[in-house]
Amino acid sequence: MRILGIESSCDETSIAIVDENGGSFKIENHILASQIDVHAKYGGVVPEIAAREHVVNIFPMLEQVNVPRDGKGIDVVAVTSGPGLAPALRIGVELGKSLAWMWNKPLVGVNHLEGHIYSVWLNKDGVQNIPQFPALCLLVSGGHTELILMKDHGSYELIGMTRDDAAGEAFDKVAKMLGLKYPGGPEIARLAIRGNKTAIKFPRPMSSCDNYDFSFSGLKTAVMNHIKNNTMDSKEDIAASFQQAVIDSLINKTLSAMERHNPKSIILTGGVSANTELRTTLESKVNILSQDTLFHAPSLDLTGDNAVMIAVAGSFRAKKKEFTNPLTLVANPNMRLA
Ligand code: KG4
Ligand code: ZN
Repeated sequence: MRILGIESSCDETSIAIVDENGGSFKIENHILASQIDVHAKYGGVVPEIAAREHVVNIFPMLEQVNVPRDGKGIDVVAVTSGPGLAPALRIGVELGKSLAWMWNKPLVGVNHLEGHIYSVWLNKDGVQNIPQFPALCLLVSGGHTELILMKDHGSYELIGMTRDDAAGEAFDKVAKMLGLKYPGGPEIARLAIRGNKTAIKFPRPMSSCDNYDFSFSGLKTAVMNHIKNNTMDSKEDIAASFQQAVIDSLINKTLSAMERHNPKSIILTGGVSANTELRTTLESKVNILSQDTLFHAPSLDLTGDNAVMIAVAGSFRAKKKEFTNPLTLVANPNMRLA
């Protein structure tokens, strides 16, 4: 099955063609245009500007992936239909609908979060190393921080989520306080390498609560107060200590959910999964806790938003014939996974 994937939920425009064969995936073409430079001067993504950039990018991209004008060779069109920024989502959704209608091909509306989860089905060792169910997913991005129990393809139970800011959002806001550019996650991670992660004892919010929820707003305020009151502290130490507080919070809840639910796989995914310290620490702790639970994280080029993961998630929906009507699909900025 050859799937055309389309992603435009935030500030990346992406189109991909993925070929699925017997459960293994080959990326035939993948194009991604990041708008980071456009939004950096505003310190975050401006939805209307994102939409305008998607319009500029998306049609030339369609040409670049070499899709025949009549859609010959494409079996399914898969497009992110939510969650995300409404004006941005609409550009991809309208393109997906138009192509599916014009080519008379089935259309799948893909949940962006499900897309992030399926990014690990593309790991290099392929079918031999795909996650087994139940899988416990730690989904950490700029808009979401969730612990999701995936019982089967398309079957999700939300067992924990952030009560306020998402982890990526906290990285972005603390980076701004330190005068670093947007997006802040990679900037903090870079500084943190040269800092002392035990220099400042920032809080680990909700660590003593008997649930799997997260909170990063209080941590963010603690960092802001610390910067105000300790002007001589090095940015490196602040970055490393803040990063460690986020990582500890994420890992503590994930490991206690793992003990409770005994999953066969742990999936770390979303933009923040690019954080090396988080990846390596979680992987080693999972391995220590259980040798029967395998750790999965996307390859570094697929941690951020991309159309490849949308195509892969779409292929599983297509196999179950969960198609949507191209005349009625609408973008849903608040779409939930469970
Ligand atoms: O999944 P994603 O690309 O977009 C959303 O769907 O939100 O995630 C973007 C988020 C941003 O907040 C960015 O700062 C964060 O992922 N991020 C990181 C790293 N790389 C990206 N956070 C921490 N460490 C990183 N290396
Ligand atoms: Zn995302």
